[in-house]
Amino acid sequence: MTDKQVLLVKNSWIDIVAHVSDAGQIFYENFFVLAPEARSLFTSDLKEQQKKLIMAITLIFTKVNHLENIKDEVKYLSKRHKGYGVKTDYFVPFGKAFIKMVGTILSERKIWNTEMQEAWTAVYNAVAQAMVENMKEA
Ligand code: HEM
Repeated sequence: MTDKQVLLVKNSWIDIVAHVSDAGQIFYENFFVLAPEARSLFTSDLKEQQKKLIMAITLIFTKVNHLENIKDEVKYLSKRHKGYGVKTDYFVPFGKAFIKMVGTILSERKIWNTEMQEAWTAVYNAVAQAMVENMKEA
């Protein structure tokens, strides 16, 4: 993950946030096609969940170049995910659904290209890797 990639993600994230409701819906639709068995893990109202998830991922992504500083946050997030019954294998379909959602929204804004896709993938992978490592350790 390069500084430029972090910058690309930071500067385009606002477009996702501006469409938070669509983003959440697109994301979950994508994800449940790839991992239908994960549907039952999501128990809270999906509308609320969509917003919560997108806003929280924002928080983490905007600090991704300082992952060290949010080590504890990530650790507790990972712990809660274990409690939700999330398996580490889910991070792959989750990432695919996530990148596809970002691509859908940023394509509409005409700012989606290979460089952007690589940047978002690198940032997602950094956060997912930190979570998976924590989940395996705990
Ligand atoms: C980088 C990856 C991920 C991030 C940043 C993330 C973030 C979050 C956040 C912030 C919440 C809100 C509740 C809380 O803070 O504990 C949440 C809830 C949840 N996440 Fe994730 N998540 C990620 C990956 C995944 C994956 C791979 C799954 C697999 C199924 C998953 C399943 C869930 C479930 C089941 C909930 C609770 C839903 C409910 O309350 O109904 N997450 N996630």
